[in-house]
Amino acid sequence: MSLIRIEDYRLAFDGFEGRVHVLDGIDLAIEAGESVGIVGETGCGKSVLARSLLRLNPSPPARVVSGAIRYEGEDILAMGGGALRRLRGGIIGMVFQDPVTYLNPVFTIGQQMQEVLRAHEPGLSRAQRRARCIELLEAVRLPEAAALLDRYPHELSGGMRQRVLIAEALAGNPRVLVADEPTTALDVTIQRQILALIADLVARLGLTLMLISHDLGVIGAACRRIVVMYAGTIVEDAPAELLFGSPLHPYTRGLLAAMPDLRQPGHMPSGIPGSIPNLRDPPQGCRYHPRCPLAMPICCTTKPVLRGAPHAVACHAVAP
Ligand SMILES: Nc1ncnc2c1ncn2[C@@H]1O[C@H](COP(=O)(O)OP(=O)(O)OP(=O)(O)O)[C@@H](O)[C@H]1O
Ligand SMILES: [Mg+2]
Repeated sequence: MSLIRIEDYRLAFDGFEGRVHVLDGIDLAIEAGESVGIVGETGCGKSVLARSLLRLNPSPPARVVSGAIRYEGEDILAMGGGALRRLRGGIIGMVFQDPVTYLNPVFTIGQQMQEVLRAHEPGLSRAQRRARCIELLEAVRLPEAAALLDRYPHELSGGMRQRVLIAEALAGNPRVLVADEPTTALDVTIQRQILALIADLVARLGLTLMLISHDLGVIGAACRRIVVMYAGTIVEDAPAELLFGSPLHPYTRGLLAAMPDLRQPGHMPSGIPGSIPNLRDPPQGCRYHPRCPLAMPICCTTKPVLRGAPHAVACHAVAP
């Protein structure tokens, strides 16, 4: 049994102007100990998918149209209050996309971490919680952890704040870490440090990792397996070396061609022509067909199935 199994999951948002079909038939199984990267352009549904694992998309307007998301066989979409509270942080720890939003400016780091710990381990005394906070801050390699507890978020650098959020995500001893763009707001050297920290924690704590980024370089540095999303669908799912070495889907090839090559100064990478579709009225068939150089008549009418293992692709024009 897979640790996490997402089956034909469709999610829409109901708005004033109609329904937005954000996730369209996601199939994804993640085994314990895997490190899976999710990559794709802005708006393709990466964060919505991550939040779905914790059932955090606000409903309404979010509406599950079909499918199941299972953790060790148990359907997350059917979990009751107690199981859901345990799931959030106790089984799956999440680092959210926007660090500034998730740290409250009026409370110290210590106050915020104590609050998180209280939710996970209500039995601990104040002193025990403080000791655990220090332990968590040390685990994410923050120096002078004890002094840090009395500081406010604005007194920390962006990289330090991100480490605090990772520490909070680990507070409930989760088995799975979901990190949504954990390095996007940071400069390149700090990005590297945070990625190295995540990789180290994953190895040391035996975590299963889902790392989300629009940057293939970031994903490639930390993940053994890469899932490429386009407009709410998975178009390719492969071990990292196969995805980089022999990408199959035209969209993945476009993403790779759009990466800057530092060995060729002055070389401007080509972007993918066109833009992402409006999900209120998404293209029929393959959602990528309006931008695809290989599009055939069938692509406009029939959604391609994701198939092949370990290198899976959803495309009528290329075979796995
Ligand atoms: N609460 C919401 N209500 C309505 N629409 C939403 C909501 N949350 C997300 N969406 C829509 O779902 C789609 C996918 O958004 P999502 O945030 O998952 O994209 P993303 O791939 O994470 O993009 P980015 O790389 O910019 O973070 C977008 O069209 C977005 O507008
Ligand atoms: Mg996002």
